[in-house]
Amino acid sequence: MKIMHICGARPNFMKIAPLMRAARAHASIEPMLVHTGQHYDERMSDLFFRQLDIPAPDLNLEVGSGSHARQTADIMSRFEPVLLEHRPHWIVVVGDVNSTIACALVAAKLGVRVAHVEAGLRSFDRSMPEEINRILTDAISDLLFVSEPSGVENLRGEGVPESKIHLVGNVMIDTLLANRAKAETSDIVASFGLVPRGYALVTLHRPSNVDEPGVFSGILDALAIIQQEMPVVFPIHPRTRANLTRLGLASRVAGLTGLRLIDPVGYIEFLKLTSEAAVVLTDSGGIQEETTILGVPCLTLRENTERPITIEQGTNHLVGVNSDRIIATWRSSRAEHRAPKQPPLWDGFAANRIVKILADA
Ligand code: UD1
Ligand code: UDP
Repeated sequence: MKIMHICGARPNFMKIAPLMRAARAHASIEPMLVHTGQHYDERMSDLFFRQLDIPAPDLNLEVGSGSHARQTADIMSRFEPVLLEHRPHWIVVVGDVNSTIACALVAAKLGVRVAHVEAGLRSFDRSMPEEINRILTDAISDLLFVSEPSGVENLRGEGVPESKIHLVGNVMIDTLLANRAKAETSDIVASFGLVPRGYALVTLHRPSNVDEPGVFSGILDALAIIQQEMPVVFPIHPRTRANLTRLGLASRVAGLTGLRLIDPVGYIEFLKLTSEAAVVLTDSGGIQEETTILGVPCLTLRENTERPITIEQGTNHLVGVNSDRIIATWRSSRAEHRAPKQPPLWDGFAANRIVKILADA
């Protein structure tokens, strides 16, 4: 059985790594890997292939950056001939990025079956590009692999037949558990002169936060207070770095001596930074899940989350973007009891379950 796996953007690589490993180990599966090229910087792409032992892609579509329409259309037009040439039995798409919907749509129209990993998640906020990608991808997929019970409820509510839905756990956590020991050995915390539980870790890249000058500068107001009391490490996403300059915020950030702006770091280094942080402030999807497993307080700087289990069972706090609220929650979370939580099936074996179901499908 020929299975073509699709990846394109940073959070896809952590999800694809265990899927490729499990598929390669399966006697009756011939896996292929296609990289769309949505992310292309060394520190947004190649670094993860090396650190996570992902085989080099069989093909890179090299689409690069662009508006939503252009990027999605470029992926589709470059992916179509690839699919026609290789005619896999299945394509596997992960997550909610433009590469996910673009490839799923091409495959569905050519009659190639689509499996969506991380299906069913809903923020119920259609101003998020990812929410549109999730709804559309799920609507045209043949198999829906779900990471948490809310996803099953959402799909049922949308009338998806029970036979398509499989609660299998979380492939992102497969990768976390597989790399935890290696991350322990990273010297990144010490090399920055930081002490465990003595710093805050920040990531930001949602357009609603970093493309809007008012919102971005409100978040910086909060970080300006926090960095007076605790060092803040901020591996900055390329979108966010570009916006600091475009919105005239770069000099303000440069004046914050406790805020350390660094290039994006590798998975192993980021896992070490997260594990030993006092608190994480983020608008990332995946980091809400990682902090839950690690028992590190997570302040999610958004008004909603598509991953409610991280609040119900984990360490996630939905804080929004009001600076006073961010500061107040940061203060209270510093004293929080740290208790790692493992939601059902977030046990390191999600990819094995998925590959078994695919092989029998
Ligand atoms: C994309 C995903 C988002 C995901 C995020 C993870 C969509 C709609 N968005 O957002 O869901 O959470 O990736 O990181 O698919 N850039 C570079 N180098 C790179 C990649 C991007 O400089 O290697 C810059 C370019 O200026 C680009 C901008 O970042 O225009 C945004 O990249 P893009 O892939 O369009 O969206 P992200 O914000 O990265
Ligand atoms: N991550 C990383 N280096 C960084 C920032 C994040 O390796 O500098 C990892 C993080 O541990 C998680 C993933 O990238 O596994 C999350 O990706 P991102 O926040 O870009 O996307 P999202 O999850 O929001 O879609």
